[in-house]
Amino acid sequence: MTRDHTRVQEFFAARAAGWDRRFPDDGPAYTAAVAALGLRPGDAVLDAGCGTGRALPALRAAVGERGTVLGADLTPEMLAEAVRAGRRRGGRLLLADVTRLPLRDRALDAVFGAGLIGHLPEPGRDLGELARVVRPGGRLALFHPLGRAALAARQGRRITDDDARAEPRLRPLLAGAGWRLESYTDEPGRFLALAVRRD
Ligand SMILES: C[S@@+](CC[C@H](N)C(=O)[O-])C[C@H]1O[C@@H](n2cnc3c(N)ncnc32)[C@H](O)[C@@H]1O
Repeated sequence: MTRDHTRVQEFFAARAAGWDRRFPDDGPAYTAAVAALGLRPGDAVLDAGCGTGRALPALRAAVGERGTVLGADLTPEMLAEAVRAGRRRGGRLLLADVTRLPLRDRALDAVFGAGLIGHLPEPGRDLGELARVVRPGGRLALFHPLGRAALAARQGRRITDDDARAEPRLRPLLAGAGWRLESYTDEPGRFLALAVRRD
């Protein structure tokens, strides 16, 4: 069944033009999060919900010219900003829904998803789609340059335990989707959950 992502697309279409200017100091946090993914030269990696492609240069640096970097997003305006910013040099951009990826099973070594999980309509099922395209032993990084409390404060809401990023919720969601949560960090300047694809 095709899902209706109109609300997500409208939300990000309206923010695409100023996106990189809103967060000018995030670069080092993205570089560190990519480093935590432990990519090797020649690996194939997907930036799921890549937006304007802020992670693509670090992903390309990690896998080298022999590697494969894909950036998938369903908001055309975000991808247009990625093109404008020259991020196509870092990876191939796909207008695609990461809950229904046009990729074969086990095609990738890793998935990087920044600011993504809060937008997934069915996190358990959708994390399963990310698992489908990653080889056993491959890795997933769910990242945000702000921790849960800091992000909630910026958005004027409270954090709750039913948030898919809360560890008691995220761990079983990942397990049910074929991932094993390997490390979990939720501090003011960084949210980072690293998981490994089970056999
Ligand atoms: C908070 S933004 C983060 C963008 C980028 N990863 C970054 O860190 O700057 C979330 C992005 O996820 C995209 N997105 C949300 N749901 C998606 C889906 N199902 N498939 C592909 N992209 C999606 C949105 O269009 C948006 O560009």
